[in-house]
Amino acid sequence: MSYLNKNISLNFILVIILSIIISSYQKDTNTFSNYEVIEQTNIEANFNIDFTKKVIHGTIKMYFTALEDGEVIVLDTRALKINSVLDSDTGEELEFVLDEQFQLDANGIPLKIYKNFNAGEHIAILIRYDTTESGSAVQFLDSEQTTGKKYPFMFTQCESILARELFPNQDTPAVKVTASMALTVEKPLFGIASGIFQNKIDNGDTVTYFYLQKVPVPSYLVALSAGAIEERVISDRTKIYGEKELVDLAAYEFEDTENFIQLAEAYTIPYEWGEYNLLILPSSFPYGGMENPTLTFVTPSLIAGDKSLASVVAHEISHSWSGNLVTMNSWSDFWLNEGFTMFLQRKIMEKAYDLDLAKIDAKFNLNELYNDIIKYGESKSFSSLRPYLVGRNSDDAFSKIPYEKGFNFLFYLENLVNSHSDIDLFRKILRQYFTKFKYKSIKYEDFREFFIEKINEELSPEAAKEVLSKIDWVKWIEAPGFPPVNNDFSNKYSTEVENAIEKFYKNELPDNFKETFTKWHTILKQYFLSNIRENDKELDDTQLNMLSTVLNLKEGYNAEVNFGYFMCVLLHGKTLENNVKEALINFLGKFGRMKYLRPLYTAFYQRDKETAKATFEKYKSSYHPIAVRLIELDLKKLG
Ligand code: BES
Ligand code: ZN
Repeated sequence: MSYLNKNISLNFILVIILSIIISSYQKDTNTFSNYEVIEQTNIEANFNIDFTKKVIHGTIKMYFTALEDGEVIVLDTRALKINSVLDSDTGEELEFVLDEQFQLDANGIPLKIYKNFNAGEHIAILIRYDTTESGSAVQFLDSEQTTGKKYPFMFTQCESILARELFPNQDTPAVKVTASMALTVEKPLFGIASGIFQNKIDNGDTVTYFYLQKVPVPSYLVALSAGAIEERVISDRTKIYGEKELVDLAAYEFEDTENFIQLAEAYTIPYEWGEYNLLILPSSFPYGGMENPTLTFVTPSLIAGDKSLASVVAHEISHSWSGNLVTMNSWSDFWLNEGFTMFLQRKIMEKAYDLDLAKIDAKFNLNELYNDIIKYGESKSFSSLRPYLVGRNSDDAFSKIPYEKGFNFLFYLENLVNSHSDIDLFRKILRQYFTKFKYKSIKYEDFREFFIEKINEELSPEAAKEVLSKIDWVKWIEAPGFPPVNNDFSNKYSTEVENAIEKFYKNELPDNFKETFTKWHTILKQYFLSNIRENDKELDDTQLNMLSTVLNLKEGYNAEVNFGYFMCVLLHGKTLENNVKEALINFLGKFGRMKYLRPLYTAFYQRDKETAKATFEKYKSSYHPIAVRLIELDLKKLG
């Protein structure tokens, strides 16, 4: 081959590779389903919850609209047993195959159903199946693992790509369905799902509960739970659900929910989902909160007694617009869900608390963002707002990056836009964004195009040109590494906290500092601890003592403060006293929330490998399988 030919063919290969990478963002690569050929539109699901076998016996009727002619429907599954597939109109059995060659694929196993269809045709199929114990979308808890310790409990977690372990479906955020969900549970347990309660039927030993989700949602927003669940009404549209030991405490803790919803509505557009209920899960729940529509799931670790951790609820409420109404098209655009939600969450915090508390929250989270960027690698795709996910499990890219880099981008846009306008123009554009894209799934490019169009519409040609010339879309979104702009989050609290930190390092804190600290809002305490955590300085025994005395760890209980303290000791403590280790081990057994477990196990392992390993082994069976998988992955990386 001549030199010239070689160069041409190299360029040709490069172009092909580049176009494969670019086109991978136009389509969800974490699904096997042929959703571009035939689209699911509605599901009617019957979930029979079998606490003895710890599985769900499911029957699901799925409605589709064909977009093109075709002869096969491909659905996502993982860890499911498929019993039969019928054409729902004719009752005829359809041939199907679970393509086992994909056994080890990050996306599970495709289910191919052979059925001819023509473009425009509506078809319905009925699938009978069982979940299996090797799946992790459903967690069955024995009665000892619950707060009440008398009845078993079960809950699902489908985000990001676990809905395929609960029922066969087109498991992609690109496709939305309406859903009716029936749960059959044994008496005296209560069954609940992410929709509006319709009715219940008594079958003798069991009861079937019916729920309806009329607003189209992606599969990852289907959620179920069953257990000895009680309810407390806290406002016209909000009930708190949970075990009786927690439900009253939670009703107090989350009393401000209605206020948060109204603040979010005032900033965005009216709430579309009818009810907004909260379900308090047992302690193994792996997240802080999960925005299941009409039924946010939350960790019991938020119950601090002083409402100080309720901003997680403000976050989940915000998803009612960003995420649930307007949804990312694929997991590569996860920041469209989480970055926008952080932005709305902090709008609620500004009004419900104060502007400076929202800023300080943004400030210490920015430090943690920097940390995650370094951890993933400044030049690695996972540190960009558009991670390359082909062949990867989308949960492995989970970090502060979509949340905080996304938030910082929107915060930057807001200031830039509003500095050229007399009104809150950014808010106006966001409201139009929610109105235009509601019920849809969109790509980052859709947002960019819409934003540019609005800027050109709303501002003078000169101002629009100036605004648009300042936005480096590629650096913010596609490029890995640090955000191109450093936002200023200075606020009226930082100086006070920073002065205290300076004195802390010089061992000069006044005797009454404990009182000052106790009076601080939890967000200030988090800022204080996060600064010490991110600082490389070693903590001597006086400082370690100071921390444990000041934080009031024995009397007071606040999961965020306790977590922050243990991180400081593990990362920088000159010594790791046995009593501290004991308290840490207790904490690790208390909540299964990954936000705490993952960094704590990582730091503990680096400090005292044997005890960390033994602690993990001891508690492993009480953690959620998602948490177990990710902690094991973290520790494996450390060797
Ligand atoms: N949607 C997320 C939880 C999630 C993300 C589950 C990815 C599975 C995969 C939820 O809204 C969330 O972000 N929760 C945070 C709340 C925090 C940012 C206030 C959490 O769990 O800590
Ligand atoms: Zn979120």
